[in-house]
Amino acid sequence: MLDPSASLAAASSGGPDYTRRRTFAIISHPDAGKTTLTEKLLLASGAIRQAGQVKARGERRRTRSDWMEIEQQRGISVTSSVMTFERDGIVFNLLDTPGHSDFSEDTYRTLSAVDAAVMVIDAAKGIESQTRKLFEVCRLRDIPIFTFINKVDREGLDPIGLMDDISATLALDLTPFTWPIGMGVDARGLIDVPGKRALLVEERGGPLTRVVPFEHPEDLIGLEGVEERILNESVEGLSLALGILPPFDLESFREGHLSPVFFGSAIKEMGVPELLAGLGGFGPSPLARSANGRTVEPQEDNVSGFVFKVQANMDPNHRDRVAFVRLCSGTFKRGMKLFNAREKRQMAIANPIFFFAQERETVDEAVAGDIIGIPNHGLLRVGDTLSEGETIRFEGIPDFAPEILRRVMLGDHMKTKQLQKALQDMAEEGVVQVFRPMADPLPIVGVVGTLQLDVLASRLEKEYGVPIRYETVSFVTARWVSGEHAEVERFTEGNRFSLALDRDNAPVYLARSQWVLDRAIEEWPKLKFLAVKERG
Ligand code: G4P
Repeated sequence: MLDPSASLAAASSGGPDYTRRRTFAIISHPDAGKTTLTEKLLLASGAIRQAGQVKARGERRRTRSDWMEIEQQRGISVTSSVMTFERDGIVFNLLDTPGHSDFSEDTYRTLSAVDAAVMVIDAAKGIESQTRKLFEVCRLRDIPIFTFINKVDREGLDPIGLMDDISATLALDLTPFTWPIGMGVDARGLIDVPGKRALLVEERGGPLTRVVPFEHPEDLIGLEGVEERILNESVEGLSLALGILPPFDLESFREGHLSPVFFGSAIKEMGVPELLAGLGGFGPSPLARSANGRTVEPQEDNVSGFVFKVQANMDPNHRDRVAFVRLCSGTFKRGMKLFNAREKRQMAIANPIFFFAQERETVDEAVAGDIIGIPNHGLLRVGDTLSEGETIRFEGIPDFAPEILRRVMLGDHMKTKQLQKALQDMAEEGVVQVFRPMADPLPIVGVVGTLQLDVLASRLEKEYGVPIRYETVSFVTARWVSGEHAEVERFTEGNRFSLALDRDNAPVYLARSQWVLDRAIEEWPKLKFLAVKERG
């Protein structure tokens, strides 16, 4: 079996810089332990120091609720969006997926910028709805997944049962890397499977300071200092799991079919170093990206990257924004001029931001896999590609057909112009999608999660002084209409009352029911009704 420590040593020595980048996100259902695991990963890398757990936890709770309020008001995850930390010569870029339980397009887009994900599961709960949804998004791109089964310091479900549940629910092969020696009051430590050692507590609830090497897990039976019942159960469970589950296969993992499983406890820092060693050791370095007509490789000399997120400035009085760019190739240097393929113009990147463990640092150099923040005044949109001159359009930054549509009503008609401008800004920033119906002057906004509606209303009022309210519409879904020009025209003529134009003036069919949509698809075989539209 592949040993993360050995692969870590290999991964961190030699080779170009980008091979030592690991760009990933943590996906989980709220409360599974994403925040705690993030903190512990930063702690393990020495990027943060914690004064004392209790204080930090109290502070975290306070800060978290503040953040959530701001998130609600401002529609963004103001929690550090990108955290960069270094360990054993590997640079980890951890991208935060929005913290709120509601689902938004921001989440999809962030996941389009990573090469791997850590899926955190609560050992007492197994797969929960949000985990499943996020996993499905990762699967769209076959992103390799690490599984961290958290909270083994509490009573949890039986490990074999958990593995079974995850594997069956997600149709994903699993293989154990760390295995619990008891859970809850019985928690005595972990078996590090590839490392061939047991990591044990010296006293109940303490750290895993006792290390016992073994050749086969069965050798641990009879070990002194651990109750026979607990140890036997653990070893038997592991032997069974190893017997029935497929062995680790790097290719299968990289293709997103097989996930290494780490049982642990974020709060007790159990299993966290092993997870980090796995991420560093065999987590993928920046992957090649498909673009229009060709594949962009990370080792290419010329710089390229794409904007996956635009965040408004924290200060609502200033409308400048930060565009988050995932670099896909080349070595970016400060002061460089990059070409925006959509705007067809060069821009000088004077003050790029590097997010190093929650503190913004000015960056001088960055390579494929790194994220840079580019302050701008609205020039950069989500989906934009930056390059050294080549017109590249990366695939995979889509707009999704919104599941919720609302008409925007203005209280004060004198503000129609401001509303138009504000909606355009919000659409470009990716907060909502805006559709202009062909037969109605009032705009319709579309979102994937309802929180986006609250965020839009709050931001329009606070930042643009335009209070709005929503009115329900009789449309249930939207589809981009694509096909030969004449055919699209013909369809448009006959369906003006169900058609709108999007931000790029592309025609969008607003359907009153699934049945109506199905009928349109049947009646117009030469047209495509697309649920996803690539940005750009
Ligand atoms: P999230 O970001 O995924 O929403 O989860 P978060 O880390 O905030 O953790 C949610 C709750 O689970 C927190 O408890 C946290 O302390 C707890 N937790 C996280 N990891 C572990 C673990 O390994 N073991 C145990 N026993 N608990 C864990 P809380 O009730 O919100 O606050 P607190 O009073 O516990 O701090």
